[in-house]
Parts: sequence; C-alpha cells; structure tokens
Amino acid sequence: MCGIVGYAGTGPAIPVLLRALKDLEYRGYDSAGIAVLDPASTGIHITKRQGKISNLESALHGTASEATTGIGHTRWATHGKPSDQNAHPHLSCNGEVVVIHNGIVENYAGLRAGLIAAGHRFESETDTETIAHLMEDRLKAGDTLLEALRQTALRLEGSQAIVAMAASEPGTMVAARVGNAGGVVIGYGAGEMMLASDLAAVLPLTQDIAFLADQQLARVDRAGADFIDAAGNPVEVVRRKVPIDPVSALKGEHQHFMLKEIMEQPEALSDTIWSLGTLAPAELYFDDLGRALDRLAEVERVVLIGMGTSLHAAMLGQRYIEAFARIPAETDNASEFRYRDPVLGPGTLVISVSQSGETVDVLEAMAVAKAKGALQVTICNTEGAQTTRVADGTVYTRAGLERGVASTKCFTASVVALYLLALKLGLARGTIAPGELQERMQEVARVPEAVARVLRQAPVYRRMANRFATTQHLLFLGRGLAFPAAMEGALKMKEISYIHAEGYAAGEMKHGPIALIDANFPTIAIATRHALRSKIVSNIEQVQARGGEVTAVVTEGDDEIARLADATIAVPEVSALLEPVVASIPLQLLSYYVAVQRGCDVDQPRNLAKTVTVE
Ligand code: AGP
Repeated sequence: MCGIVGYAGTGPAIPVLLRALKDLEYRGYDSAGIAVLDPASTGIHITKRQGKISNLESALHGTASEATTGIGHTRWATHGKPSDQNAHPHLSCNGEVVVIHNGIVENYAGLRAGLIAAGHRFESETDTETIAHLMEDRLKAGDTLLEALRQTALRLEGSQAIVAMAASEPGTMVAARVGNAGGVVIGYGAGEMMLASDLAAVLPLTQDIAFLADQQLARVDRAGADFIDAAGNPVEVVRRKVPIDPVSALKGEHQHFMLKEIMEQPEALSDTIWSLGTLAPAELYFDDLGRALDRLAEVERVVLIGMGTSLHAAMLGQRYIEAFARIPAETDNASEFRYRDPVLGPGTLVISVSQSGETVDVLEAMAVAKAKGALQVTICNTEGAQTTRVADGTVYTRAGLERGVASTKCFTASVVALYLLALKLGLARGTIAPGELQERMQEVARVPEAVARVLRQAPVYRRMANRFATTQHLLFLGRGLAFPAAMEGALKMKEISYIHAEGYAAGEMKHGPIALIDANFPTIAIATRHALRSKIVSNIEQVQARGGEVTAVVTEGDDEIARLADATIAVPEVSALLEPVVASIPLQLLSYYVAVQRGCDVDQPRNLAKTVTVE
C-alpha cells in the first residue's frame, strides 16, 4: 500500500524524491518522509511528517542539501497510527541504518521484544523499525549493507519490499523483495539511478528499467545495480524499455484525476477494443496470451477472481463466458478464493482481473491456482505488473494510467476486454461461429460513442447530485447483468462520498432490504431495456409504495419508466450484454459530483489507497 522511492546520482536528491513521492502519494497518504546521505557522509538526515506530501514539502522548504543519495516513503498505516514518529524512514538506534518498507513483518512482535531485551531502543510503534535494528546488528557483525539486508530478510515472516541505506556506504541503496507486498522497479538513468514501488515514479527519469522478482535483492549506486537471490548468489535481471507516456498522468483541464479518467473512457474503450481485434475483417488478436492461447479449446470451466471494482468486472466476465463459450463460469472474491482450498484442475482456466496487477489477494490467489495446475490469464492495465508475470497469458486493457483511487476507466476497459476474451474462448470452443463474430464486434464497436454521449450529459448529473448530496443512505438495484453494475455504482458512491450505499440484486429486496426503505432512503434502479425490465418495474413500484424515492437508469425513449420513476437517467441503447458498461457511466458521474458537493477528497478518499498490497 505504501509508496517507496530511492535515488542515487550526482545532483541533489531531495527534489527528485519529492517529485517521485507526489507520483506515489495515491498509494498511501497518511504520512511521508525522506532520508538523505551526502557524499562526505556526515550522517543520515531524516525529515518526516504526518499528513500529505505537502506537509513534508513545507518542512523541507529552504533546506539546502548537498546529498546525492536518498530514499523516500509515503505511508498507509498498518502498525501504529499515522504520526511523525511512525512515518518512514526508520533509523536504527545507533543512527547508522535507515529503512523504508512496504508490507507487514508478521513476526515483528517477537523480534521487537528480542531486540529490546538486547538493548535496542525503539522510537516508533511500527513493524518496520525492527528491520533497521536487525540490520544494525548485522552491520556491527561485519556484513556489507546488502548482506545485512539479506540476512535480515531471512528472519522476517510475511511479504515485504524493503529499501535501506547506511552511513558506512554513502552513495548506495539496497532493496529486497520478498513475496507480493509490492514491486520494486529499478530505473537506469545517465549517471543516476532510481528505484521505486511503481513504474510511474521512475518514468520521468528513464524508461530503461528492471523489476526485482520475488526473493531477489539489489545493490544500487549511481553507476548501476547488482543483483543477488535470497541465498546470496549473483543473478541476472533483465533490463527493458517501457513505452509509457508519463504525460497521461497529468490532470489536464480537470479538477480531479477521477473526472479526467471518467472523461477518458471513450478513448480507453476504443484503445482496448482495437488493440485486441478488428472489425473488417472481424478478427481477435490477443498478442499477449502467450502459452494460454493454444490451450483455450481445452478449457472446461472458468473461475474469475478479483477485488472491489475488478471483482465487479469479473462478475460481468462470468456472464460473457457463459453466453459465448457455454461452459460453467463462476466468480470469487480473490481474498476468499485464496483460503478456501478451491477445486481446480488442468481443465480450469482462472481469469484474474486487476488493473494494477499488484493487489496482494489477487497475487496470492494466483499462487494457489498455479500450485493446483490451473491455466491462468490475467486482465491488467499495467505493463509488466506482477500478475502479468505469474499468469500464462495477459489481456492488457489500454486505459492509460489511472490515478484516482476510485477506479472508473479501468473498470469499463476490463469489462470490454472480458467481453472480447469470452468471444475468443467461444471461437476456440466452436460455440461462436466466425460469422457471429462480425455482429458481436459491431456491437462492441458502438460502445465508445454511446459512452461519449453519456459523458456529454455531465452537467445534468452535476445538477442531479443535489438530490443525493445530503442523503445518509442509498440503495442501488439491478437484475441480471445490471446487478454487478448496481454493486459497482454503490461501491463508487461509498468510497468517495462516504454515503452508506448498498448494491443489491433486485430480487433480494423482499427478503430483507425493503425493510430499510422510507422517505430518507432513496433508490437508484438500473432498468435498461434488457435488464429484466418488467421485473425491475415491480421493484420500483414496491419501493415507491413504501414512500421511497426512485431514480431509474433507463434506455433512451423508455417513457413508461420515465413516467413511473421520480427521476430518470437515460442512456443510449446498446446490445444487451454491453448495457452495464453504458449504465455505469452516469453512476460514476453522480458519485463524483456528490463527493465534490460534500467536500470530499475525491482522488484520495479517507482510509483507502490505490493499490492494496497488504491483507
Ligand atoms: C475501486 O474503485 C477501488 N478503489 C478498489 O475496489 C479496487 O478496484 C481494488 O482494490 C482492486 O484493485 P486492482 O484492480 O488494482 O486489483
């Protein structure tokens, strides 16, 4: 969850670290800090502050530092409340070693007790500080900095990404990756090097990068990097050039990344669709499916996994696979799947959905699937992310970097990618005739423009947000394919506006939730043409009969529901299976405008982080 950065060069380290921390702030924003070491090694200097990077920046204002090496961290608290003291970096008690960390040291309590008994003094409540003290002991025993980190990492339980510096080795940083707590990417500049938890933080310096694999360590100075494995043996790590444009990370004309990303959906959808197929002739490519490509015809069953918004995309993927490939498909929350000893075999295809490709529960669920011999494909928006390195094949969505914590364009891009993958599976299994592909491709080709039409109505949703800005509760109802869209609508609303929102299968209403309905509990019902419309009409009437107010999302021209509902949101007609994509757009906009009206921090909502790398 935390963001990590390191720099070794010839110029001042502090501006580079601050810039990179701002790129990483979405990962965690309860505190931030940096540690720098100057070439003459007058010791390690740490500055850290509770709150956002701007607090750290103010604290550093006017600091004239000669330091050319440094590390920085932005925190999402796991052990110990957000405070200056608990902010990273953490120093050993002799002031010789400084550490930043992403992950959880699961055995930290025992280690901490042992270190205190041996005379170490702790300044914070964090699990991370144990690492600094353990490394201090190894350095005192004569280890190099890299060996001290390796020996220390062997004593830690759990998944970690660790970066450290020592006063005894100026100009050097060391890093270790154990498990799936977060990646470490190393960037090669000209006479300067960076490392970070995210590619985005390194890209402004260089596109020449290497990723640390699980159980690998690196020693980095301004001239380059050397790598070892957990046993201490030298290893080769492949360097590569990545084609990502850092400019897409800017907010542009928009007040928030979330709004920018909502508005980018027509392009994100087009880019995703046309990177995977063509209309004339109707063909599907899937260039990154690797060894999974030739095995699609053998698939007997599909299990889709994901978390949060990606889980909702997976739920839609399940319906697409059932529709096109006519094989059993089920969806599971990755955090449940990983612990339930799932029944999988060589005939099972596991499809993981993760825009970041770094979500720990997804990675651990994939490890379970791998151990059981399942074929795996991942849907991912991040080039080279961890999920793409575990899966047998990848379907990249081409949504561009998504910075807002609330996922929008990655959701809809994942849904169309799953739609196309389901078609591919249907073709491989012979349940889709090549002639039908043309028709299906035409249907998906219409979606970006339909989405653009909804977006042109944004001012309508800004005004409609007044209806909901003061409510305490909101119910989202949907049936069939509209059910995952209702779940997603509720998740968007709750995560950024802090309104209690529930997404329900409308058929469940009479089994409990209807008891909640009164004049203060409004409902948003997705009642588009193919979403079991007549059934949802009954649900709307039942809610209204209890004094509840209903806003219905309808297909343009549906006057009957427009007359019935208290308010309507009209969306363009698209094919039945793709309705949820179009119906989700006004719900994203509503959530956004409600959150803005309530004065919420839209891009960095409380208690959340963009990439969830801890359990
Ligand atoms: C989305 O709005 C959420 N912030 C969150 O549910 C997110 O979708 C989830 O953490 C999964 O992330 P991933 O796609 O990067 O795996």
